[in-house]
Amino acid sequence: IKRIGVLTSGGDSPGMNAAIRSVVRTCAYHNIECVGIYRGYQGMIEGDFKEMGPRSVNNIVNKGGTILKSARSKDFMTPEGRQKAFSNIQKAGIDSLVVIGGDGSFTGAEVFNSEFNIPIMGIPGTIDNDIYGTSFTLGYDTALNTVVEVIDKIRDTASSHNRLFFVEVMGRDAGHIALNAGIGAGAEEILIPEEDLGLERLLDSLKKSKASGKSSSIVVIAEGDKIGKNVFELKDYVEANLPEYDVRVSVLGHMQRGGAPTCFDRVLASRLGVKAVESLIEGKSNFMVGILGDKITLTPIDQAIKGHSEIDRELLKVADIMST
Ligand code: F6P
Repeated sequence: IKRIGVLTSGGDSPGMNAAIRSVVRTCAYHNIECVGIYRGYQGMIEGDFKEMGPRSVNNIVNKGGTILKSARSKDFMTPEGRQKAFSNIQKAGIDSLVVIGGDGSFTGAEVFNSEFNIPIMGIPGTIDNDIYGTSFTLGYDTALNTVVEVIDKIRDTASSHNRLFFVEVMGRDAGHIALNAGIGAGAEEILIPEEDLGLERLLDSLKKSKASGKSSSIVVIAEGDKIGKNVFELKDYVEANLPEYDVRVSVLGHMQRGGAPTCFDRVLASRLGVKAVESLIEGKSNFMVGILGDKITLTPIDQAIKGHSEIDRELLKVADIMST
């Protein structure tokens, strides 16, 4: 291994910059060259590269987003696109890759490796925390803290006006953000894709909550929940069935993807970057680096793609008890 290419791909997440910094500086530490590839796989196809040294990553450990920019490349899904990408990295002398992204990005990496046999390492970067083989993905902790901070503010209005708020959070098909931020922010109910509460039980729970003396409530809803109504339809449904409730909706959206990474995400990014580069140096390929317990681990990338990251079911019970 002489020259590593690093790219960020898919949705950005806080901590990606800290991971780029770690990869670049670990390369420098081991006297390996490092090349930044802009806009993920699309930049690989277009030959958008930049030489990176330890000074090119100054002052980014604390920055959200990704200085390398990110994209979801359609061209890379075609054999012609990948061929072009490979010619470009060959021309640039890049002999291995670190891909920072989610499972779509890892799928691309795996296909690319199988076609051209270029060593690759994946670093999980997504706020959704939906990747098998790691307890935490980069950006998840930051997103949780952002969501909790915002719901704390929403609670002020909920409580001042005796209102019920439906707060929709991101997570794609996974309920990790909703479940954990919901508990952290003291939600009355949490709707997640992994557990369909059902409309009747939701109404029942809201009725009970009113009867128990609560005057305001927060319900956190994962964007991928299975209740069968979008958050605005749900508001209408609840108001029609429980006229005693004055409901408002807040869809948090992309604010959850931005902002300075938490210390946890920065430390995790630094550790994962070191492990990714050092694993390539040791001759390993086709793994995703992750964290299980407090140990930095390697998971075969095909397992990371195919496996399912389960929610912790104990948290469902905790959430339930906390809303008593
Ligand atoms: O995967 C991260 C994520 O923010 C999801 O939570 C969300 O469903 C999706 O990306 C939004 O994608 P886009 O930014 O392309 O609209």
